[in-house]
Amino acid sequence: MTQSVTLKPYQPRVFSGVQPTGNLHLGNYLGAIKRFAELQDGHDCIYCVVDMHAITMPQDPVELTRATREVTAAFLAAGIDAKKHIVFNQSQVAGHAELAWVFNCIARMGWLNRMTQFKEKAGKDRENASIGLFAYPTLMAADILVYRATHVPVGEDQKQHLELTRDIAQKFNFDFGDRIRALGLESGDYFPQPEPLIAGPAPRVMSLRDGTKKMSKSDASDNSRLNLTDDADAIAQKIRKAKTDPEPLPGEAEGLKGRPEAENLVTIFAALSGREPATILSEFGGGQFSTFKNALVELSVEKLSPIGAEMRRLTGDPAMIDAVLKDGAERARAIAEPVMRDVRGILGFIQG
Ligand code: TRP
Repeated sequence: MTQSVTLKPYQPRVFSGVQPTGNLHLGNYLGAIKRFAELQDGHDCIYCVVDMHAITMPQDPVELTRATREVTAAFLAAGIDAKKHIVFNQSQVAGHAELAWVFNCIARMGWLNRMTQFKEKAGKDRENASIGLFAYPTLMAADILVYRATHVPVGEDQKQHLELTRDIAQKFNFDFGDRIRALGLESGDYFPQPEPLIAGPAPRVMSLRDGTKKMSKSDASDNSRLNLTDDADAIAQKIRKAKTDPEPLPGEAEGLKGRPEAENLVTIFAALSGREPATILSEFGGGQFSTFKNALVELSVEKLSPIGAEMRRLTGDPAMIDAVLKDGAERARAIAEPVMRDVRGILGFIQG
């Protein structure tokens, strides 16, 4: 689609969200949180703990509170500056739910029916899926557009939702174009077309027990993942127990084909060290796995245990975390509320 080049009404703004469900693990860190921290320089960022998305699947309320604080602690421990940027939980800013309702009336059943995440999460028993699970992507569109955010760091699995967000923005702009212009708001394009931010190939972090499955909080075996709150002993133990194959490491990346467990450990080493897999293999290729694993333990403990320790320190002071979220929510509201006033006006809602 052609976007106006001469007219750039939108302030560049980054928005992303993480669901507070289960424990955070290395995949969440390398795939999302570490990149959120890197984007702080040169961007205005809003990072949201999406508790309203979490309840699209059943959640234990006590656990939801704990996990919301844990995700917040992970943001802070990873170096996100909640004073310069905005960190808050979704449910504290009513604009998300309000705009999501508007978008429920813009998006078409057919669009949402195509969402692969819904099909996966609903499984065979679609009749029993919540309406919230079906409408998940319209809430996600509202998260982004209530701040008129322009850039969204997301993983591969969320790209389809981001495309839907663009479709919703475009249909809203089109359906209400005359009204938007009549009210003197922008040139008719009220909402931006937010773009995914994929900073290089995001590392695919796989299970430590099965290199063909993604590292996941829902895996029954805790040994399959490195939790961000694991201490040095747990990290060392899990890496030592990690599945490998009997061959020594190859000398070059080609040799990792068909060896998913070896490939995964090299990927993790590369992501944590900021080095290329090829460089790592030139150092460790031909040697025993145990030598490589020892180096990986050392690296992982060095990089992850300070984050875990800081998370434990922060979650030990829940009142402090809640104060960060409250302050973030206030500043988020200050951006969202004028947008909602415009939206209500565009729709023809009377407001005081
Ligand atoms: N759906 C995202 C995920 O599961 C989380 C999310 C909710 C999000 N709202 C968002 C991500 C807005 C980016 C922008 O990973």
